[in-house]
Amino acid sequence: MRNKLFILLIAAVLFLSACSSTPTVAPMPTLDPIAKQGQAVFNARCATCHALVPDTIIIGPSLYGIATRAETRVEGQTAEEYITMSILRPGDYVVEGFNNVMITNLAKEITSEEMNSLVAFLLTLK
Ligand code: HEC
Repeated sequence: MRNKLFILLIAAVLFLSACSSTPTVAPMPTLDPIAKQGQAVFNARCATCHALVPDTIIIGPSLYGIATRAETRVEGQTAEEYITMSILRPGDYVVEGFNNVMITNLAKEITSEEMNSLVAFLLTLK
């Protein structure tokens, strides 16, 4: 009985030390090249109205955590679909408390490659 307890204790210590060796604060994930391009598009086109830090309204809502929120915004739409629609047809779903002032001609101004990278970037904002 004593032995069993002892082994359990050792196991617990090993388990805990294994855990503490992994960093508790996740490092900023390095973006893949496509998302990185999307980040540049975001900075050029979207950052004037959207912050990426929580609870910060510029003109539009903060996009902190948008990849997670996007999954539940519109029933039947995946996060990717919601984000894409938010950019191409922002008037279809207007976030509560905001006006529908987002630019709508973006699809004509950026290439589809830029658009894809932009969506890829936003999908990293979990
Ligand atoms: C002129 C300011 C403005 C610009 C520029 C702008 N937005 Fe917005 N955006 C808004 C406003 C206001 C809303 C909230 C109303 C709505 O839902 O359309 C919004 C909503 C959104 C949403 C939905 C957020 C949510 O919580 O559901 C996404 C995603 C988004 N914008 C992405 C973008 C991206 C990507 C760009 C750059 C291509 C961009 N916006 C450029 C003003 C802007």
